[in-house]
Amino acid sequence: MSARIVTLPGDGIGPEIMAVAVAALDRLGDFSYEEHVFGGAAIDAHGTALTEETLEACRGADAVLLAAVGGPKWDTTDPDAPRPEQGLLGLRKGMGLYANLRPVRPLPALYDASPLREERIRDTNLLVVRELTGGIYFGDRARRDGRAHDTCEYSTAEIERIAHVAFAAAESKVTSVDKANVLETSRLWRETVSRLHSEHYPHVELEHMLVDNAAMQLVAAPRHFDVIVTENMFGDILSDEAAMLTGSIGMLPSASLGDPGAPGLFEPVHGSAPDIAGTGKANPMAMLLSAAMMLRHGLGRQEEAAALESAVERALRDGLRTADLGGDASTERAGRTILDNL
Ligand code: NAD
Ligand code: IPM
Ligand code: MN
Repeated sequence: MSARIVTLPGDGIGPEIMAVAVAALDRLGDFSYEEHVFGGAAIDAHGTALTEETLEACRGADAVLLAAVGGPKWDTTDPDAPRPEQGLLGLRKGMGLYANLRPVRPLPALYDASPLREERIRDTNLLVVRELTGGIYFGDRARRDGRAHDTCEYSTAEIERIAHVAFAAAESKVTSVDKANVLETSRLWRETVSRLHSEHYPHVELEHMLVDNAAMQLVAAPRHFDVIVTENMFGDILSDEAAMLTGSIGMLPSASLGDPGAPGLFEPVHGSAPDIAGTGKANPMAMLLSAAMMLRHGLGRQEEAAALESAVERALRDGLRTADLGGDASTERAGRTILDNL
């Protein structure tokens, strides 16, 4: 039976890059797709960013492929108005996707596209393991009488399950990133990761690093890192920073996973890029590499995943550059070039 994929094109450049990913998947196998409106598009159609029907479809799929949500049309500071991003958070929570994997592997063909010098980034191969369903993103928040608060909370169990993912993924070392010099959640984080390490993973090197230092080390000495494990908001910020090692945020894919057997969600790290939506300039490669992560982690199709990744790499070696990488290839031309390589 063909794998059932729910596609969520979303907003902005989302539909433009999703079209390229679906075309690539069609070359690679016999997949069935069920498309749903999501984010701002779902607010316009249904008044909410994530309908019950869409969430149920995602839970019942073999995998979910998402492009991006959000845009100025739905930007508001009104706490009672619906936001596209609520759909994304609701989907991650509703599907139990607590582990977000963001691999950062600068390709030799793109060393010259990074603002960092080649000798800095050469041979960097790191993985950000971001906790995705806890922390300040999901704690109590409110605004009252000219004051507002957001609460950051973590339980031992939430920290343990994400630390397991990080240790299992490590080849040599786990760097646990926190702010234990200030935050109580970070002190529980550090204590829990240390205990798990000594009980189950003594053969893996563990180091703790404060998040401000980690932000600096990521650009000063990126080769230092193997697996970085961190809480929700630190992981969000550090992964956008790490994207520049690869040349552009338009290159970074991600996989969001829950317990074994449950469907995963695969999406680029970047957003809906409203500033270039509709201009045909979007780089579709983070989307294609997310589809490759879906093939590998979500559908068990290692060969097709590798084929898609090498089609992207070969196009870059042959000189393909979208605008974010300093070239002038359109989304369409980039897609066609990569598809021709498949
Ligand atoms: P963004 O990632 O959308 O864009 C940041 C910059 O990177 C922009 O200049 C954009 O043009 C560029 N960029 C991003 N992706 C690109 C691509 N594939 N090709 C070429 N250039 C690309 O971040 P932002 O501007 O802060 O956010 C815009 C909207 O996207 C907001 O509403 C935000 O909430 C949302 N967002 C959604 C997701 C998601 O759906 N997973 C992720 C991040 C941001
Ligand atoms: C991401 C995005 C989201 C996040 C937003 C859109 C809610 O920035 O996936 O990195 O902060 O998790
Ligand atoms: Mn982000």
